[in-house]
Amino acid sequence: MARISASVYTSHVPAIGAALDLGKSAEPYWQPVFKGYEFSKQWLKENKPDVIFLVYNDHASAFSLELIPTFAIGCAAEFQPADEGWGPRPVPKVVGHPELAAHIAQSVIQDDFDLTIVNKMDVDHGLTVPLSLMCGQPEAWPCPVIPFAVNVVQYPVPSGRRCYNLGKAIRKAIESFDQDLNVQVWGTGGMSHQLQGPRAGLINKEFDNRFLDRLIADPADLATLPHIDYVREAGSEGIELVMWLIARGAMNDRPPKVRHRFYHVPASNTAVGHLILENV
Ligand code: DHB
Ligand code: FE
Repeated sequence: MARISASVYTSHVPAIGAALDLGKSAEPYWQPVFKGYEFSKQWLKENKPDVIFLVYNDHASAFSLELIPTFAIGCAAEFQPADEGWGPRPVPKVVGHPELAAHIAQSVIQDDFDLTIVNKMDVDHGLTVPLSLMCGQPEAWPCPVIPFAVNVVQYPVPSGRRCYNLGKAIRKAIESFDQDLNVQVWGTGGMSHQLQGPRAGLINKEFDNRFLDRLIADPADLATLPHIDYVREAGSEGIELVMWLIARGAMNDRPPKVRHRFYHVPASNTAVGHLILENV
């Protein structure tokens, strides 16, 4: 059967992708950001999964205000990097895992979560920047990736509680897949940031670090945090953090092993947070 070995959490700041693509990662501004992922790149090489289930949000690249799925699972055989206004990032295409994705859709929808099934979708920085941070600049990504898009852009957005429970349904789905696969679940986006309005530039280090503590030690309690608290404390785009609860819900019920924890401000307009948790 398939099993979930670990979860990875990371911000997805688009300027990080641009810094890498334009060869600026050694510059003084970016060096401390990339340094926080040195361990992670080595860890991923040594703990290469068969499939990554990658929870992220689309930023009006694949979807628009015309059609906004709350939860969308990518079931295609491949996904191209999206053109976000400067042309697609020069990164490999994303190879999917249609069989596992279809199984997860079947199991999770029968468990009462209404997923949208997506058979064609481009993937933007929400998905490609986490892959770049964890893998660097390879010719091909190290394994198939199932993109799982969450609406955190247009209100109403799903609650942390629903995301956490969805993570548990995804765990059950993966663990009932009849192939011996090592699966990692990644939760991406965040941490605190606000890109617009009078509070643009908002960063809340205290909230972010408390969020990391609670995500590790008591995710069920963290899942009760109402969405308005994310927006108030972590900024309008800080709501991206609810996606981390999907990955955390997919972990087993024992306390996880914390393999890596990193926090850095600033990166563009965003506080960068990063965790690697292993199932024990
Ligand atoms: C930035 C952060 C984001 O999450 C995003 O989607 C776009 C921009 C930023 O920090 O600039
Ligand atoms: Fe974003």
